[in-house]
Amino acid sequence: MYPLLPRVVAGATSRFNMHLFRAPQTNSTRTRPQLGALAPLVRANSFCSLYQQHSACCLATTKTMEADSSTGVAAEVESLRAQIAQLEATLKAKEKELDTVYPYSRSYSKTSVVTILGSEDGGKKLIGQILRVGGWVKTGREAGAAAFCFLEVNDGSLFESLQVMVPKEVAEEVGGLKALTATGTSVLVEGRLDATPEGTKQPVELKATKIFHVGTCDAATYPIAKKKTSYEFLREKMHLRPRANTLGAVARIRNALAFATHKFFQENGFLYVHTPIITASDCEGAGEMFQVTTLLGKMKEYAGATSVSAEQLEALKAELAAQGEAVKTAKAAAAANKEDKELTAASKAAVDKLLKLKEDFAKAEESSRIVGGIKRLPDGTPDYKEDFFSKPAFLTVSGQLQGEFYACALSNIYTFGPTFRAEYSFTARHLAEFWMIEPEMAFCDLTDDMQCAEDYVRYCCKHLLENCQADLDFINKMVDNTAIARLQQVASTPFKRVSYTEAIDLLKDVVARGVKKFEYNVEWGIDLQTEHERYLTEEIFKQPVIVYNYPKDIKAFYMRLNEDGKTVAAMDVLVPKVGELIGGSQREDRLDVLEQRIRDGGMDVAAYEGYLDLRRYGTVPHSGFGLGFERLILFATGLDNIREVIPFPRWPGNASY
Ligand code: 4AD
Ligand code: MG
Repeated sequence: MYPLLPRVVAGATSRFNMHLFRAPQTNSTRTRPQLGALAPLVRANSFCSLYQQHSACCLATTKTMEADSSTGVAAEVESLRAQIAQLEATLKAKEKELDTVYPYSRSYSKTSVVTILGSEDGGKKLIGQILRVGGWVKTGREAGAAAFCFLEVNDGSLFESLQVMVPKEVAEEVGGLKALTATGTSVLVEGRLDATPEGTKQPVELKATKIFHVGTCDAATYPIAKKKTSYEFLREKMHLRPRANTLGAVARIRNALAFATHKFFQENGFLYVHTPIITASDCEGAGEMFQVTTLLGKMKEYAGATSVSAEQLEALKAELAAQGEAVKTAKAAAAANKEDKELTAASKAAVDKLLKLKEDFAKAEESSRIVGGIKRLPDGTPDYKEDFFSKPAFLTVSGQLQGEFYACALSNIYTFGPTFRAEYSFTARHLAEFWMIEPEMAFCDLTDDMQCAEDYVRYCCKHLLENCQADLDFINKMVDNTAIARLQQVASTPFKRVSYTEAIDLLKDVVARGVKKFEYNVEWGIDLQTEHERYLTEEIFKQPVIVYNYPKDIKAFYMRLNEDGKTVAAMDVLVPKVGELIGGSQREDRLDVLEQRIRDGGMDVAAYEGYLDLRRYGTVPHSGFGLGFERLILFATGLDNIREVIPFPRWPGNASY
């Protein structure tokens, strides 16, 4: 209907028009003739001016009415939404109560331990129900003069295990009590959920009436049967270590942090982008990359090829040159005496020999390029035309460059994937394969970037505190008794921020006063070492701190050069227990400055053409950062070694499974 209005009331204001036709608009039976009938009146000038005077007054009244009714409707909508949300929550809870079976274990009618013990009342509501529980025995013991046994059954859905009481008669059907009590035994047990006596740790236990499955476990050979096994030992049993309490808790904490990561970025309007794992560019320019190649696989293919030495090749070359001369002579002789058939035949034979020699030489030259099973260029480097991608390719060290491509089109993006560094590092904070979360934001400067990093880390801490209580309690008790307090502090306190220059001054000051000695000397221009980072965050600030504006010479080429020409708009988030958790920066968005930085770094400008194009075509200020996911888990759990917080750690000399 709206498109009609300007034509009908030419000369009048559009607000006037809307007011004039408001009633018909709400009438579903309105028709063109109705509006048309009003048109001649409105066109009359006198009528128009009268209406224009009147319109201001009417408009004001209508606006007030609109405001009143819209706030009323908005409140009604809000209230309806709240009611629906409430109903949905109640429905979900009731549905859960009605159906305790895990949806993808219907064929076994199995209930998860978390459904029982993880509910608000610790499972009391389910008392009296017949349930089936399946999992692995954490501990088992016979009791009541071998009349029954108690099993602590854990299925990984929750830190806690469910206590199952199995009477002797029930156990007899599956080999007796002894077949059940060994740590590591798997069971699927049906029974009645009963209340436990007052003062027992858990309010409920399962009284077994039938055992459907037993996977026996020989305690004498089970590698992790002992209560306390060292982390080093568990690493040798990578396939069984998820069954250890700490590793199980870490797996659930890791899962919660991954979920929180996606939640945080999705709630804040970021798009999840999958950047490649195989790449031809070295994002950090540090050259610590794993190469991806099929050239080594070709070594077998070339194994049978006879290698031709340089001397042999030279000899063939000389022979070829001599034959070239012989052909010339033979051809000249044949041309001088065309009637002589013998000379013609001799010339043809010389040419044939030359062609054959040429062919042999080409083959020999080809063979001479194969050295050590790899075809090489004259300078001895591998001929990458032979390789899978026809050029050198590597495992990515960071998804940042490709992330920038997407941010410079879609504004706010994040990546969350594996990254690889071939650093020959054995520290407790380095892995050869680790996961990184890398947001990248268009129209975002270093201050916004720091805020995003802080908000994200604090969100993760809050999420853990709200969702992983049992695991955190265990970690706090068995691993690090400051873990929960640390999470609480970070969740509730804004991060400190200091410039690199201020940080260096603070460190120099403690050295000067003899308060602290560092292994590495402190002076402006150094790359902060872990000992410096940890001292800043653990001793000086006693909380997370963001250090920003680092010297340009110690940072990557893509960081934006500051006005002082000495520093770049970089930032590192340092946290207790870990040191550097996040590294980020505002990106250099000026084409000429960026090109110069690439050249200064001794890198090949041609390899960064795509990256430079972003600055050629519609450049924007943009920033981002990378958070080392395993370091976040180290921070949350207080574990000492990063190898414990990734399911399958890779470090120099180690890559089992
Ligand atoms: O500081 P880094 O090297 O920064 C980058 O890779 C940037 N491209 C990120 C960006 O701006 N998008 O690495 C980021 C983080 C570090 O702060 C650290 O937490 C973690 O990755 N990290 C490692 N974690 C485990 N093992 C290693 N070898 C690590 N190297 C870096
Ligand atoms: Mg860094």
